[in-house]
Amino acid sequence: MTEMNRYYRDRAPVYDDVYSYPERQQDLRFLESHLSGALRDRHVLEVAAGTGYWTRHISGSARSILATDLEPAQLEQIHQRELGCSTETRVVDAYRLSGTIDDKFDGAFAGLWLSHVPKQRMAEFFSSLHQCLKPGARVILIDNSVAQCQRLPITFTDEWGNTFQDRQLDNGETYRVLKNFPTVEELEHWVSAFGDPEDYVELEQFWLYQYSRRI
Ligand SMILES: C[S@@+](CC[C@H](N)C(=O)[O-])C[C@H]1O[C@@H](n2cnc3c(N)ncnc32)[C@H](O)[C@@H]1O
Repeated sequence: MTEMNRYYRDRAPVYDDVYSYPERQQDLRFLESHLSGALRDRHVLEVAAGTGYWTRHISGSARSILATDLEPAQLEQIHQRELGCSTETRVVDAYRLSGTIDDKFDGAFAGLWLSHVPKQRMAEFFSSLHQCLKPGARVILIDNSVAQCQRLPITFTDEWGNTFQDRQLDNGETYRVLKNFPTVEELEHWVSAFGDPEDYVELEQFWLYQYSRRI
């Protein structure tokens, strides 16, 4: 188990605290509103779903959701939420989606996940995701803007240019967690071989990138 995976296991009981930070509220309302219709009537594969904060908002209009994550303690919380469509949870490694999941989806979502993907594994992740999608599938990625560093400064940069934060939990333990802040040019570069851009929204605390899987 990596340090990041231990961190998310240990943080699961208090994970949702990040959604009550006052500086995030305005952006969260915008993103929730966008997600309430952007994947309407689609069968959605959610990557690194965590406790399902975004799952709930997508479920209001999606046809179905398969919510995946590597950490069972995070996924367990999803079914305690009020969900609007049929939602299954499954423990799946985001880098092995295609080897593990047989179905093909016409929608995909990943919230606050891409920032945890090492730059040198980006192609591996997108290839794994895109093999699970039908042509024309809509993909939505949401993540933190650099404003997040005001709470959690960058403490280390590796030889690939990946940045890391030292995060402490109430158990007193400190975890070094990879957290990148991709530019729109990087996002376009990573998906250009597979997808056509639909939307990019840069908010104060978050960004949203939406594209469709090329036919
Ligand atoms: C920042 S949380 C995001 C959770 C949720 N999507 C949200 O936005 O609230 C990152 C999630 O990635 C999961 N994760 C870490 N490594 C993973 C991997 N290799 N495959 C799938 N999920 C992973 C963690 O367990 C954690 O739930």
